Amino acid sequence: MTEAGTLLSARDLWAGYVPEVDIVRGCNIDLDEGELVSVIGPNGAGKSTLIKSLFGLVPAKEGTITFRGEEVRRAPTFRLVERGIGYVPQTENVFPNLTVEENLQMGAYLRPKTLKSRCEELYEWFPVLSERRRQRAGTMSGGQRQLVALARALMLEPSLLLLDEPSAGLSPSNVDVIFDRIGLINSKGVAILMVEQNARRALAMSDRGYVLEVGQNRFTGPGRELLNDPKVAELYLGGGPSKGTT
Ligand SMILES: Nc1ncnc2c1ncn2[C@@H]1O[C@H](COP(=O)(O)OP(=O)(O)OP(=O)(O)O)[C@@H](O)[C@H]1O
Ligand SMILES: [Mg+2]
Repeated sequence: MTEAGTLLSARDLWAGYVPEVDIVRGCNIDLDEGELVSVIGPNGAGKSTLIKSLFGLVPAKEGTITFRGEEVRRAPTFRLVERGIGYVPQTENVFPNLTVEENLQMGAYLRPKTLKSRCEELYEWFPVLSERRRQRAGTMSGGQRQLVALARALMLEPSLLLLDEPSAGLSPSNVDVIFDRIGLINSKGVAILMVEQNARRALAMSDRGYVLEVGQNRFTGPGRELLNDPKVAELYLGGGPSKGTT
């Protein structure tokens, strides 16, 4: 049983790529309906592996994962997609040889009937994609490609979006655009679990945050609280107090 409002809950989760090596080592993650939650931590902490294990892409060996109160730890990825989970990988998250429109269509192969109307809705959320619907994704800027990846993951109207480093490698102005659109997606009621290197920025907009280290929870709390925690700042936010981060 889960509390009312809990969307995703992982308890004592262990996961890894090969049987003898555990990367995620007893992690706990909770996410309520409509919440925006960030996971930060050093390189190699297991953030991407955690997200992949929640989406069935890496075996979750032990523990429980519940989605809307149902146990899904062993559910295959396509079942998780059917239940309302979307995922944007850290890299290679668009089909470079397909146009924007074709990328979106690939995101909705399960529901061809609603495809057209959902495309149009997403073009309203991402106007730049509407203008470029016939452009191949591979010829677009990094920021625009990231918007294509977000839109594709939203085609099936997920209630939870898993984002792995959505702002990685983008110019400062594109980072602004991506975080702004993530805020918009969340304001439409989509819960978001986001891994970010841009930790200050991510925590500032998050309801809650997790600091992960060597596959384990290190700190947990409201985004603003973590941002203002001197220990978190020193260890994970490049030191110093957080000054006016928005
Ligand atoms: N496909 C894979 N096969 C085997 N081991 C892997 C694989 N991908 C990652 N690992 C290992 O898992 C550990 C955690 O990697 P992971 O990518 O989850 O970390 P991360 O916190 O996302 O790091 P980063 O901040 O660099 O993205 C690392 O030691 C890495 O070498
Ligand atoms: Mg990663």
